[in-house]
Amino acid sequence: MLDINRMPVHVAIIMDGNGRWAEKRKLPRVMGHNAGMKSMTEIVRRASDLGIKYLTVYAFSTENWKRSKEEVSGIFKLLVKYVDLELDELCRNNVRVRIFGDYEGMGEAVKDRLDKTLGDTKDNTGLEFNICLDYGSRDEMTKAVRAIAREVKDGELKSEDITEETISAHLFTGLAGVPDPDVIIRTSGEERLSNFLLWQCAYSEMIFTPVLWPDYTPEEFEKSLEEFQSRDRRFGGRKETK
Ligand code: IPE
Ligand code: IPE
Ligand code: MG
Repeated sequence: MLDINRMPVHVAIIMDGNGRWAEKRKLPRVMGHNAGMKSMTEIVRRASDLGIKYLTVYAFSTENWKRSKEEVSGIFKLLVKYVDLELDELCRNNVRVRIFGDYEGMGEAVKDRLDKTLGDTKDNTGLEFNICLDYGSRDEMTKAVRAIAREVKDGELKSEDITEETISAHLFTGLAGVPDPDVIIRTSGEERLSNFLLWQCAYSEMIFTPVLWPDYTPEEFEKSLEEFQSRDRRFGGRKETK
């Protein structure tokens, strides 16, 4: 049983398996992404109902540009559809939306809709829903290093004062005040991070489920959270023994 008093503060999800879900049904890949958006809607709703503070999802990676133009533009169109359909409900549920990554390259129409969503939800105080778009952890770290180097050059920071906290604070997560994820869930049976939160995952619990993202229901989500609650997190320490 899920213990509502021991919920993770920050849940991160690699939403994978849309393409395989579509292929299994002999449908075009974009139909898989469409089904995946529906899963995302339901998981956001459930995360908010469960009182989770931060939910970060991996929606499009810096490497996903390698896919066909048709698939990439299909994903962006679906994203716009998602925010248009869900914005009212997100606001009603007091959800704040943020984007981690550069969505500049996704075209004006996408950028406008996303900017509106960020603006309209910026004062909401409930679930903080972070969508990683054109996100790559190495890109995020590179940007952080550049920003830190600039501060050193401008005399705002001494190189010997750079700590782990300095680095964390310059990542998209740190800049937004989002803590490291307690748990990273990846659907579809793949067991790798694919350039997701490589710095922040130092002590995250990893949960891999074979369920394809479009089949990942709120019930499956609760199962993953139960598995998280069964884990023994030690952070390098050890339990007191008699
Ligand atoms: C995840 O599903 C969504 C994105 C990466 C955009 P995939 O499209 O990677 O689905 P599979 O892995 O091919 O099944
Ligand atoms: C990771 O999935 C990125 C997203 C879910 C957005 P991919 O499907 O792109 O990752 P690989 O290629 O299997 O590692
Ligand atoms: Mg994939």
